[in-house]
Amino acid sequence: MYRVLLLLAFCNLFVLSVSAQRLPLGQLWYDTDGNMINAHGGGILYFQKNYYWFGEFKGIGKDGNKAMDGVSCYSSKDLHQWKNEGLVLKMIADTNSMLQPGCIVERPKVIYNAKNGKFVMWFHHELKGQGYSAALTGLAVADKPTGPYHYIKSIRPNKKSWPANLPEDQKHLLDYPIPRRNDSAWNAKVIEGMFVRRDFENGQMSRDMTLFVNDDGIAYHIASSEDNQTLHVSKLNEDYTEFSGEYYRILPGQSNEAPAVFKHKNNYYLFTSGTTGWRPNPGRSFVADNIYGPWKSLGNPVQGTEEDKATTFHSQSTYILSIAEKNNEYIYLGDRWTPENAAEGKYIWLPIIFENGKPVLYWKNAW
Ligand code: DGJ
Repeated sequence: MYRVLLLLAFCNLFVLSVSAQRLPLGQLWYDTDGNMINAHGGGILYFQKNYYWFGEFKGIGKDGNKAMDGVSCYSSKDLHQWKNEGLVLKMIADTNSMLQPGCIVERPKVIYNAKNGKFVMWFHHELKGQGYSAALTGLAVADKPTGPYHYIKSIRPNKKSWPANLPEDQKHLLDYPIPRRNDSAWNAKVIEGMFVRRDFENGQMSRDMTLFVNDDGIAYHIASSEDNQTLHVSKLNEDYTEFSGEYYRILPGQSNEAPAVFKHKNNYYLFTSGTTGWRPNPGRSFVADNIYGPWKSLGNPVQGTEEDKATTFHSQSTYILSIAEKNNEYIYLGDRWTPENAAEGKYIWLPIIFENGKPVLYWKNAW
């Protein structure tokens, strides 16, 4: 009996140490305490030789996609072993709060502001009981990477500002009824800015989002707007806590979500997905020499079977990590959502390889 127990303990240790050294794709990942990593739709901040992974803390069961607890954070020096830093943004147990348990908090991203030493988190925020109609972006700020993050506000961005690339003669309020979605005129009208005009007075919609800090320290908020039809790239103010009012529409009418951006040799690369809820779809990639575009399609980044391409290896992009102190090495971070039990969603992290000038992904079981 004693020998059997010893053998079991050894096997357990072996499994833990193997999974600690490799990223086992498509399986559950465990933190340094041996608990399941719970940080979905996440993003990574590199600060003072540590990586901080922020993500949605999901509950068990089909209501697990609602934000009951908050945003979690894990830290690591090597991207393999992750220490749980706990819930760094907590839901506010007050029925008057916009951030009360039961609302939706998705895709939290954190950036560091070198000018004022603050850590700034923006996230997609939907109000309790209102489905996805609020389409807000939320802000929380901390003095340390591991928080606590103090909730500041949730807003519809770029209220009463026109996108810089909307033609002058289209900068006027909507003066016709919105056609039905299956009407052939609908997409053409989206492209010419129908929803921007509809939302001019109250602010633009903001759903799936990411943040990007350029080499010059200017930060951009990139989000699915206009009923998820068009991405908006918005410049933040110096503190990263307000929208500056300068923004561009990109890929209008092309229905992109799950944006993730990185910069490689003076070009910007954008990965997105189509809009099929929690179900995966073919990944998309784009290149531009300016963050505001024009963005050129590079097609599906997936190299693999037809199924791999159709489902982006059963994942949806959430972030692209530029590995600190290693030039030209990038990791694609994706989510394999399991909405029927959201906490058990898997993480698909793959190296990005450049082939013929295009960023591509190949499957790896573990690496
Ligand atoms: C896809 C988005 O990328 C997710 O973040 C989430 O909003 C789901 N849609 C909801 O259906």
